Amino acid sequence: MARYKIVGGNRLSGEVTISGAKNAAVAILPATILVRGKCRIENVPDISDVRILLDILKDLGASVSREEGGVVEIDCTNVTSTHPNPELVRKMRASYYLMGSLLSRFGKANVALPGGCNFASRPIDQHIKGFMALGASVEETEDYVNLTEGPMGLHGNRVSLDVVSVGATMNIIMAACLLPGRTIIENAAKEPHIVDLANFLNTMGANISGAGTDTVKIRGVESLRGGTYAIIPDQIEAGTYMAAVAAAGGNVLVRNVIPKHMDCITSKLSEMGVQIFNYDDSIRVISEGRLRCATVKTRPYPGFPTDMQAQICVCMTIASGLSKLTESVYETRFFGYCSELANMGADISISGKTANVNGRKKLHGAMVCARDLRAGAALVIAGLAAEGTTYVGNIGYVERGYERIVEKLTALGADIQRIED
Ligand code: UD1
Repeated sequence: MARYKIVGGNRLSGEVTISGAKNAAVAILPATILVRGKCRIENVPDISDVRILLDILKDLGASVSREEGGVVEIDCTNVTSTHPNPELVRKMRASYYLMGSLLSRFGKANVALPGGCNFASRPIDQHIKGFMALGASVEETEDYVNLTEGPMGLHGNRVSLDVVSVGATMNIIMAACLLPGRTIIENAAKEPHIVDLANFLNTMGANISGAGTDTVKIRGVESLRGGTYAIIPDQIEAGTYMAAVAAAGGNVLVRNVIPKHMDCITSKLSEMGVQIFNYDDSIRVISEGRLRCATVKTRPYPGFPTDMQAQICVCMTIASGLSKLTESVYETRFFGYCSELANMGADISISGKTANVNGRKKLHGAMVCARDLRAGAALVIAGLAAEGTTYVGNIGYVERGYERIVEKLTALGADIQRIED
């Protein structure tokens, strides 16, 4: 078991370079199953979720090689298995994308139900609804989803999502890619990683339009060919470093970002008194003095991301006045970290979907424990901003999504160490 030991109080300064987007990478890697030929993918983050996916692909028969600097080459031409290793599949959430990609290429898939961060009940009924609309027969057991070609064959179709789901939108895009006819996804999610997946697939020869709007159209093609693609920078990693500077104070240039993707986060941090300057592909964040309280409601993109809820909450715990933080995507998400922040002196009361955060002048160090990826990142930020020493346990969660976090924070002047117990 490893933990982070953080001695709080250091201001952050210098530059940090953001890695490729986790939630794009974990979709694009399974999407390589659709391609016959070599995919060279750049800006792939070196995080444990990516390593698990690469192991799953290798186990299915893909040839996979990794170079320094975030480049991965994958050739799935010789994949024949449609039954990915269940132990690996259960280690992460995004393994559900194997369902869409295997179904599209082979007309069948037998995939264990995913694991990963369980900060809420996370149904996949909208993914299944999409696969069925595309002509799949679906057999669900307690542990598995078994997809086969239904009596009418697999074909494009219209799918109207009942909830705006990132995962279902991407899974249905993948499933429809190689099917005859046209698929239209209505009420689709619009997150930047959906556009990135569509751009990757189009680079390899797919015919997808409308990604980034609420209507995505996929005209099925016979096959996809290999090519080169670079993954976009990680919006949430960038937002996490911005929140860290906001909470701990300092002056940091956050490099390798798409400032437009950061608007929803930038505007809230600005309201809280943080100075933010956008450049072409970087953002300068300056935080001096005490933050001001704010009202934030999470929403699907382009709204404030649920994956930044915990990090902004830390900023609120030390802002002046009463902040209100409302969660509208995953209602139970507060329970992953608010009690840990309370151990550090935060004053948070939860009423239904809203956390009322009464800002204190300071947090103090404590022994706390990550219960999911973003909750873990928030506890790291809290440790950086607190007086005294904080130990963050269960850091496996953090390392699922943040590349070299200790190294990056240390370069900014933070006092953080990874200690093996
Ligand atoms: C993805 C992200 C996760 C982020 C979330 C919301 C990945 C790997 N994970 O998760 O980091 O927090 O988007 O931005 O990209 N829902 C259903 N039925 C479904 C699917 C979803 O009811 O079949 C509901 C969920 O319970 C939730 C909402 O829809 O309330 C949004 O979930 P969704 O966008 O699907 O999240 P994920 O794709 O799992």
